[in-house]
Amino acid sequence: MRILILNGPNLNLLGRREPGVYGSRGFDDYLQELRGRYPSLEIDYYQSNIEGGLIDKLHEVGFTIDGVVFNAGAYTHTSVALQDAIRAITAPVVEVHISNVHQREPFRHHSMISCACKGVICGFGLDSYRLAIEALMA
Ligand code: DQA
Repeated sequence: MRILILNGPNLNLLGRREPGVYGSRGFDDYLQELRGRYPSLEIDYYQSNIEGGLIDKLHEVGFTIDGVVFNAGAYTHTSVALQDAIRAITAPVVEVHISNVHQREPFRHHSMISCACKGVICGFGLDSYRLAIEALMA
């Protein structure tokens, strides 16, 4: 089974960005732990701060891969183009957020992409990604 973890804008700064909200662990370190935990899975990783880069990646892998774990960052709340890209591909996409967006500012309560995703996991810190992988495996 092959899955892609796709991270959107500002998530390259995990570990340094607002540690009170997103924690102090870098994503590379966490990714190493995930790969060790699921040796039978091929876990690809891609991050972009650019909306079009995320769309291009979804197009590239979206017809061959078994699932995508997608944290679209702030584009979650704005992007019709990402919703369309998720609808366009055949691979199931699980939307994830590190923070519980529903406990935060009202503009974070609405997601433009949830309606196109298989499911949504938020609020469990970095463990949200593992839970999404479990959901895809199940
Ligand atoms: C986030 C939540 C978004 O509202 C925010 O813009 C992010 C990160 C999260 O993982 O909690 O960049 O997607």
